[in-house]
Amino acid sequence: MRMYDIIEKKRDKKELTKEEIEFFVQGYSKGDIPDYQASALLMAIFLNKMTSEELVNLTFAMANSSKRLDLSQINREGKYIVDKHSTGGVGDKVTLIVLPIVASLGVDVCKMSGRGLGITGGTADKLESIVGYDVDIPLERAINQVKDIGVCLISQSKDIAIADKKMYALRDTTATVESIDLIASSIMSKKIASGADKILLDVTVGSGAFMKTLEDAKKLASTMVNIGKLANIETRAIITSMSEPLGRSVGNALEVKEVISFLLSDDETLFSDSLKDLREVVFMISAYMIKMAGCGDDIEENKIKIKEAITSKAAYDKFIELVKAQGGHIYNVYMDWIGMSLDMPVLKDKAKYLKEIKAQSTGTVVSIDSKKIGEALVCLGGGRNKTDDIIDPAVGFEFIKKVGDKVNEGDTILTCIYNDKEKFAQAFDYIEDAIYINKVNDEISKGLKEKPIILDII
Ligand code: URA
Repeated sequence: MRMYDIIEKKRDKKELTKEEIEFFVQGYSKGDIPDYQASALLMAIFLNKMTSEELVNLTFAMANSSKRLDLSQINREGKYIVDKHSTGGVGDKVTLIVLPIVASLGVDVCKMSGRGLGITGGTADKLESIVGYDVDIPLERAINQVKDIGVCLISQSKDIAIADKKMYALRDTTATVESIDLIASSIMSKKIASGADKILLDVTVGSGAFMKTLEDAKKLASTMVNIGKLANIETRAIITSMSEPLGRSVGNALEVKEVISFLLSDDETLFSDSLKDLREVVFMISAYMIKMAGCGDDIEENKIKIKEAITSKAAYDKFIELVKAQGGHIYNVYMDWIGMSLDMPVLKDKAKYLKEIKAQSTGTVVSIDSKKIGEALVCLGGGRNKTDDIIDPAVGFEFIKKVGDKVNEGDTILTCIYNDKEKFAQAFDYIEDAIYINKVNDEISKGLKEKPIILDII
């Protein structure tokens, strides 16, 4: 078999066989096929697409390119292990909230999460804003931790889906990232290699996400669900909006603070307007995880259990158990407002400066562009341009106003927390550009505020 013939075949829009796809993936992983031939094939796939069968073969070839995690030691007791994956966004701290919730309700989770690159944040980076938290514990220890406390949250193992790692780095430099087929097979290969019985995908759509339109998000979601079906792994996708940053904060330590405060909500605060977007995503993803794990068939009933897990503090206790199990430092503090003392993670949240960004005019916040906010975070040093950039965990933004809120000129829209004045100056242009205020009537303001965040379930 020759790589030249495989490239020629895809260039001419013909279907590749399983053997040809495996020849390419194995050869490229081992270093037998050079980058220039691999990039030619990836560009041919980008332009001419793949059939469902080719996609499953590509996904499995990548999943099998190295070690696959064996979760069989975790006793299922009639339940399933469900993995959750988000296609990424700005302010997306959903995994950090969902995992302790579902684990406190008896759903075992063994989750690997990526690091942030470009405008999208990564859960592994957010966890590392907790002093001492080790995202790189050995897989054996991670599995034992799931057996002990029902949850582990580690970084994507270097030994899993090696072909995807090499191919993603190549795509990043050859303008072939934005292919639905290649994104779908990349994500699904990592999920399949991670050993779960079922997969739940959060496919984000909007300026701060890979998919900019609902139509593309639906295509990506159905492509991944179809790969799951052909691979005999139940897969579902929830499409969520990422047009404005999710929740009230963007930045690693700030997002962990938001997670803590979300998990400490009482009945009143949990259902307040200010938590609306984050709450809706968290509740929907958690409810589906519980259902797919075989721990509750009715989504609405699951939502009631989720609310109880939060307001009883069971989910918060599970979060602290997870942090402690992975070496995170904890301190104990007496909380006046709940009249009890609580364990709290120690955060790397020391920043020198705080600047309030004010509304330049009176009106309604019509949009907050999450892509630009993500870019501003990278400028502050809170995100990466290159995979080996070191990030500053403390910097970021806290949103006082969200889309649909009315503002008067001079009101604070967000606060920016930073450590370097020059970096702030670079970020400032993006922040200013990100916020659009206009005079609109009450009905439009209300419509903006009530815009759905869950856009589809596939
Ligand atoms: N996330 C992935 O894991 N792979 C892609 O190709 C894009 C986003």
